[in-house]
Amino acid sequence: MMEKIFSSYRLGNLDLKNRFLMAPMTRSRASQPGDVPNALMAEYYAQRASAGIIITEATQVSMQGMGYAKTPGIYSQEQIEGWKLTTGAVHQAGSKIFLQLWHVGRVSSAKVNGLQPIAPSAITAKETSVYIFDGAPSGDATFVPVDEPREMTREDIATVVAEFVQGAKMP
Ligand SMILES: Cc1cc2nc3c(=O)[nH]c(=O)nc-3n(C[C@H](O)[C@H](O)[C@H](O)COP(=O)(O)O)c2cc1C
Repeated sequence: MMEKIFSSYRLGNLDLKNRFLMAPMTRSRASQPGDVPNALMAEYYAQRASAGIIITEATQVSMQGMGYAKTPGIYSQEQIEGWKLTTGAVHQAGSKIFLQLWHVGRVSSAKVNGLQPIAPSAITAKETSVYIFDGAPSGDATFVPVDEPREMTREDIATVVAEFVQGAKMP
């Protein structure tokens, strides 16, 4: 039984060297400004490439979709180039990697990105905080309560759908 997890697996059109999957975990290590994936992140993922497949930390499809400090994006050319460091390192180490696309909806604060969060309804998430770096001299991050979101319009919904499509298509 134990051997099975070490055996290869065909996932769609991908050959995985084993059946271990690394779950997505937010690390808040993207370079600033621009929330750009960097060499440290590539090293981190390559170190874990003994898994058959890795799912990256959640990655915002737009600035509006960001809810946590220093999470990476997949909507600017710089971010795409940054992700190539990680995909290249992981492929070289013999593993496969999927990117987790996210939009945090109402779980955000204007302190994260300067934008009022958007959500299906203008209802604030109760007892929910987000993690921000507010420039404290110690460099430490703090948690702040989320802001009341703005109710999304039909155009907002179409925009977010298009952002996910664009994120999925990014080379
Ligand atoms: C530090 C940390 C960061 C996480 N970040 C994400 C994330 O970015 N996306 C996600 O879907 N889940 C995230 N998770 C959830 C983990 O993927 C989840 O804990 C893992 O799948 C194990 O599942 P379990 O907690 O139900 O056992 C995170 C968990 C931890 C501990």
